[in-house]
Amino acid sequence: MPGIDPEQRLAWLYAVLNLLPSPAQLVEHGSGRIRFANGAARILLPLEADSGREPARADATDAQGRRIPPEQWPHRRAARGELLDGVEITWHRGGERSSFLVSSGSVPAWDGETSLVLLTYSDIGRLRRTEQELREAVRVRDEFVSVASHELKDPLAALLLCVGFLRRLLQKHGAVPADLLRERLEFGERQGQRLGRMIDNLLDVSRIDHGRLQLQVEALDLRDLVHDVVGRYQEQAREAGSLLVVEPSGPVVGDFDRLQLEHALGNLVSNALKYGAARPVTIRLGGDEAAATMEVEDHGIGIAEADHGRIFERFQRAADGHREQSLGLGLYIVRSVVDAHGGSIGVRSEAGRGTTFVVELPRRQLPAGASGPRAAE
Ligand SMILES: Nc1ncnc2c1ncn2[C@@H]1O[C@H](COP(=O)(O)OP(=O)(O)OP(=O)(O)O)[C@@H](O)[C@H]1O
Ligand SMILES: [Mg+2]
Repeated sequence: MPGIDPEQRLAWLYAVLNLLPSPAQLVEHGSGRIRFANGAARILLPLEADSGREPARADATDAQGRRIPPEQWPHRRAARGELLDGVEITWHRGGERSSFLVSSGSVPAWDGETSLVLLTYSDIGRLRRTEQELREAVRVRDEFVSVASHELKDPLAALLLCVGFLRRLLQKHGAVPADLLRERLEFGERQGQRLGRMIDNLLDVSRIDHGRLQLQVEALDLRDLVHDVVGRYQEQAREAGSLLVVEPSGPVVGDFDRLQLEHALGNLVSNALKYGAARPVTIRLGGDEAAATMEVEDHGIGIAEADHGRIFERFQRAADGHREQSLGLGLYIVRSVVDAHGGSIGVRSEAGRGTTFVVELPRRQLPAGASGPRAAE
């Protein structure tokens, strides 16, 4: 642009750079002085134009998380003549992080002007956050697969042992005494049911994790639900030596998802039997006009106060003695089902004295978003 005042040319260039949505800087070759920083750079980068000073509190790291000393910051390297092509840098300022890919290119010198380097910064903060989330998701999935496959082997091994024992007996004697056969078959059946319950829980969790826990609500009297669940757990109760007691109540009607609540209550009852020290387990219904309540009370080993928060997370098991029968998924499912109903769950417990889980469920479901037909499985 012959005949145009260099100052005017610079003003024009600055105006163009200020229009860019991403940070850009003009840096002097040699000195590393930041001659110009566009609007985005002034907001997003911890570097001041002209002064060339870096605020003392900003720290920088590279893609591997190693610290980058200020003399190695991109504008310094570019000023020394290095050509940067997508160099990653993350600045840390007062607990906040911002990550960029930095590239550089020379701006031709004008008459009498020091030659400049243009640095452009692409914000990759969102990309990094997504990467972090994906890594976490993969970690959770790996943990899920390893815990699940490990624990599922236990009832399966017991079942195979039982079948093998009967087969060998039959081979050897040509017949199995009826009593022994019945006893072994009942044992095998219990192992199969245990396996089934574990698989149910795993499927529930995978549905929850994929956001497919959608409610299919119907008008329901919770007394019917309790009746069904109690019937299903009579066998486990007999095995545990506990009595399942349902406190009488009037109708407790509301809009609920029957199947999901059956799983939730089933998990609470199963826990009460498993950790209930062979003492009676009581199921109590109640509530007011707006919400129904459902309580499951046992008098077993209890849960230390320190564990009350974490037992609702997946794979969290507080009692060491029962690990062989646990995936640590039950309460996670209960909480997810209760959350999906817009309800809440609380626990009252003391180590050694028993536990009461209290579930509160609003009787009416909010129409939009909160309910709908369950996704095709
Ligand atoms: N009624 C209870 N009494 C004492 N401890 C309990 C009771 N319910 C749950 N817990 C503790 O909370 C932990 C988490 O319970 P949760 O139902 O999620 O898993 P789990 O019973 O170990 O395994 P899963 O339900 O997957 O078979 C249990 O391991 C146990 O330590
Ligand atoms: Mg459980």
